[in-house]
Amino acid sequence: MKTDYSFVRYLSAKKTVDDRALNQHVWRAMAEALPERARILEIGAGIGTMVERFAKNGLLDGAVYTAVDNQPDNIITARQRLQHLNKNVHLETIDLFDFIRREQGKQTWDLLIAHAFLDLMDIPATLPPLFSLIEPGGHFYFTINFDGATIFQPTIDPILDDQIEQLYHRTMDERITDGKLSGDSRSGRHLFHQLRQAGGEILAAGSSDWVVFAETDGYPADEAYFLQFIIHTMQQALNGHPGLGTAQFADWIRQRQQQIERGDLVYIAHQIDFLGRVPK
Ligand SMILES: C[S@@+](CC[C@H](N)C(=O)[O-])C[C@H]1O[C@@H](n2cnc3c(N)ncnc32)[C@H](O)[C@@H]1O
Repeated sequence: MKTDYSFVRYLSAKKTVDDRALNQHVWRAMAEALPERARILEIGAGIGTMVERFAKNGLLDGAVYTAVDNQPDNIITARQRLQHLNKNVHLETIDLFDFIRREQGKQTWDLLIAHAFLDLMDIPATLPPLFSLIEPGGHFYFTINFDGATIFQPTIDPILDDQIEQLYHRTMDERITDGKLSGDSRSGRHLFHQLRQAGGEILAAGSSDWVVFAETDGYPADEAYFLQFIIHTMQQALNGHPGLGTAQFADWIRQRQQQIERGDLVYIAHQIDFLGRVPK
């Protein structure tokens, strides 16, 4: 069993899963809305996989892309991965809230991206300062917002599987960051009214579920690692939980790991993407 896990490798392994998941209708609407010489800001950008996606699809041409993340390892990796791209990509290790304090009222961006990020935040409190970073009439592209379904197949025990899913989602809802509640296991559905409440107009929305399964040759790319990391994250989140029998949960984790090794595990996570606009 693995004991050391790398978040950087997880983000890298997640890229092919995200490539399949991103909602194509919302993506096209975003690409059409992008002005020439767009100023793009991505928050919680990780190791820069969205920058790579923009480059591959020709959306970086003429654009200036600023990507920030608060983990130095992520930004170091992003610099290595993106060194072949033009110099119009700016990467910075900085906490989002320090970045907002520094930039608010000074600069705005045509497109703000948050990918697999907003569901970690206190969204109603975070949207107004985020929107203040967008040029009036500019756009936001908020993708892979988790929305309340973690599905594993095959079933181990229907009652235990459901209980673990519910307790895991509760850890997201009860997460405390810097002394404040932040996180929402149903952020996708809640964003419809939260975005409007903050003054945003939703132009496109659609599901972006992760669907991971082994093909004849096994899991694609590094997706077995992606699955191992997900199971490890659940183990960390629920270890010692009073609602779960220790031995029973350990056995459940072991069985899920064995299913990955055999190529049997299917994992589906329900998520929603949004494109929207702030008022002029
Ligand atoms: C689930 S990861 C997604 C990363 C990337 N968007 C991707 O999908 O590959 C969330 C990212 O948000 C970053 N993050 C979390 N809280 C942050 C904060 N307060 N300021 C800046 N970055 C933050 C983490 O370091 C992590 O890279």
